Amino acid sequence: MVKRVGVLTSGGDAPGMNAAIRAIVRSGLKNGLEMFVIYEGYKGLIEGNIEKVDRNFVSDIINRGGTILKSARSREFKEEAARLIGVEQLKNFGIDTLIVIGGDGTYMGAKKLSELGINCIGLPGTIDNDLSSSDYTIGFDTALNTICECVDKLRDTTASHQRCTIIEVMGNKCGDLALFSGVAEGVEMIITPEHPYSESEIMDRIKALGTGKKKHSLIIVSEKVFPNVLSFAEKVTQETGFETRAEVLGRLQRGGSPSAYDRVLATRMGVYAIEIIVKGIRNVVVGVVNGDIVHFTFDEAFALPRKTHEDIHRLISMVNR
Ligand code: F6P
Repeated sequence: MVKRVGVLTSGGDAPGMNAAIRAIVRSGLKNGLEMFVIYEGYKGLIEGNIEKVDRNFVSDIINRGGTILKSARSREFKEEAARLIGVEQLKNFGIDTLIVIGGDGTYMGAKKLSELGINCIGLPGTIDNDLSSSDYTIGFDTALNTICECVDKLRDTTASHQRCTIIEVMGNKCGDLALFSGVAEGVEMIITPEHPYSESEIMDRIKALGTGKKKHSLIIVSEKVFPNVLSFAEKVTQETGFETRAEVLGRLQRGGSPSAYDRVLATRMGVYAIEIIVKGIRNVVVGVVNGDIVHFTFDEAFALPRKTHEDIHRLISMVNR
């Protein structure tokens, strides 16, 4: 019997989601599957916003940011009653397998859905890189490059005015965007949830930087470390005498055309997802580990320890001021 497979994107959009959708639809069709898309994530699933697609549906999207399927954060889907409606909607279309592209919230929704009998396959799509089951998530590399582009620009004005600039980047509760961009930009201080500093440590460090030979400094901090980084910068200026400004990069980090790396990663993962469906593997999440595309059960994935990147932390003091 021909399998019917649906695909949706959920949670914060990430560059490369479209490349994944394209790979899934095209390789699904090549394998004789009937392919469906669900719009607006789990919200659209509950509403039955489902459409059958052909290969042309995904033409010219490999280079496009965002997600052509739209995304949503559905609170309703946390309730079993809503998930049961979702199952009914899938059954109405004869869809037995659902591929979800998103982050940890999306994976949790998929796991719950799998417990109701739907075969669910997860692909890591989030700029945060906060999924232990994949060394890199789709969108992380593009967001990282966007941050670097912004920091390059902020460096010009920071140096011209001989200031300290604190740049807040996204990541939810994961410091990877801050850590990797901090290394890529050679900044003076990187503050993440995994490697936090006390307020007095930060003040002392900025004071010392302000009296150093180099007259400007860049600091990168993960979101949610400071309740309000703008007012924190004002406090720093007052307490240290080093004129400090803060910039919140915000959602512009989620936009833009995906990098070549993200397009390739998304394509590899999309094709792999279809391969495992054809093999009869059920209820797993896909990841890249040491360069190989692999899969884990939901329980294995949730039990994996968080990456802490100690090797990268060790090199910071060797190369950054
Ligand atoms: O998960 C991606 C992400 O961009 C996080 O980095 C951030 O904390 C969150 O989404 C913001 O979500 P929203 O745009 O829904 O406020």
